[in-house]
Amino acid sequence: MMAIEELSGIAAEVSVCTKCTLHHSRKNAVPGEGPEQAEIMFIGEGPGFHENEQGRPFVGAAGQFLDQLLTQAGLKRSNVWITNIVKCRPPANRDPLPEEISACNLYLERQIKAIDPKIIISLGRLSMANYLPRAKIGSVHGQMHKVGGRFFIPMYHPAAALHQASIKPVILADFARLPELLKVARSELKNSGETDSSKHATGNQPNDLEDEPKQLNLF
Ligand code: URA
Ligand code: SF4
Repeated sequence: MMAIEELSGIAAEVSVCTKCTLHHSRKNAVPGEGPEQAEIMFIGEGPGFHENEQGRPFVGAAGQFLDQLLTQAGLKRSNVWITNIVKCRPPANRDPLPEEISACNLYLERQIKAIDPKIIISLGRLSMANYLPRAKIGSVHGQMHKVGGRFFIPMYHPAAALHQASIKPVILADFARLPELLKVARSELKNSGETDSSKHATGNQPNDLEDEPKQLNLF
């Protein structure tokens, strides 16, 4: 199936999904958006009030700051893919629960497979924990890890910077390095001769990770 068809199929499925209790508080599911050939995919935590109203990811205050971070890093929002670990808004913006994250995970896995991004960037502790369960964001933020045929960078959540002034310069500096990291990712993937058929191979054991990712097959 073409990536674009798979992505619109996933969006249609999540709009009527009842796999976890978050569907009760959903006005609009937020499957995520971006071009299917995006090299960078951002994964946030879950839709908030404005995202639930509009059915689009990162359109509230955190989203405006994300837009600013992207612009300052010389990236266009229209060139990246943006989604969340849960596609429906948790009531009162509480953290998604482990059972909600795991109920929703297959949609995220299918999106990753369809888009096949070179770099996955987690925004916040919960979406990092999905891959690096024991890592501490304070020590790994902004660091790029090669995992399988892909790169992974955990970042602070933009909302954290809005609540804690000391995080703002850190997240700005981490985003400012993205163009350089994208160059590294492109050339490493080219040199290692990754082909579409070998991209999802799980044979490569990363040796620079602090923590074993839970889902090596995703990278
Ligand atoms: N915060 C998130 O984690 N995701 C969104 O889509 C919006 C705010
Ligand atoms: Fe389904 Fe995910 Fe929404 Fe839960 S959060 S109802 S699993 S789409």
